[in-house]
Amino acid sequence: MRILKKSIVCVMFNAVFYGLITNTVLAWSSGPPAYLTGAAGDNGTCNADGCHNSYSLNSGSASFSITAPTAYTAGKALKIKVAFSNSSGKRHGFEMTALDADGNRVGTFKKIGNTTQVISPSDSARGLDKADKDKYIEQSTKGVKKKSWVFKWTSPSKATDPITFYAAGCEAEGKGMADNDYVYTTTADISASSP
Ligand code: HEM
Repeated sequence: MRILKKSIVCVMFNAVFYGLITNTVLAWSSGPPAYLTGAAGDNGTCNADGCHNSYSLNSGSASFSITAPTAYTAGKALKIKVAFSNSSGKRHGFEMTALDADGNRVGTFKKIGNTTQVISPSDSARGLDKADKDKYIEQSTKGVKKKSWVFKWTSPSKATDPITFYAAGCEAEGKGMADNDYVYTTTADISASSP
């Protein structure tokens, strides 16, 4: 009887310990891994197996949108907004990148304030290649409480138009788990303004 009690306590301890580790060390709510925008060349979206895949992609009832100018001037920065509306989620997140018509990741992202973060190659947990420095932006820990995010993107000096912004978003129930959350994808095109 004593051995049985001991093993039950041991199992319970491990479960709590494992749960704590998973949620503390790999807290993707503080910003997901790179290459999850749904763009060509990425590794899919947040809807990956074992992640936020309780429901099929884009099956939620919220609206997920990108608001960006339709034209850019080479080398100039512009503001972009990613937003959820009509969402019943308690926490939200997103990830974005930009590809030109040849599939090259182009331009550089810059955060405004602390609700977003540009994924850094030095952040090993998020697995971004050095070559893609400043090419991916996502919600930060603070940003998970927001439903919309505004940040900057500086267009490249040279690119094959149109450039397409790709974003994946997660409408989460806010229970600190990856289930029962809806994942959305959306895109927006931009081209160089004619001289
Ligand atoms: C762009 C893609 C993703 C976005 C925007 C995203 C966003 C989020 C958000 C908003 C939460 C909070 C959920 C809540 O409190 O209910 C969360 C939690 C979580 N996500 Fe994701 N996620 C993404 C990709 C992934 C992937 C690929 C995995 C699996 C490898 C993952 C695993 C988790 C886990 C385990 C949690 C619960 C623990 C925590 O709070 O971090 N996520 N994520």
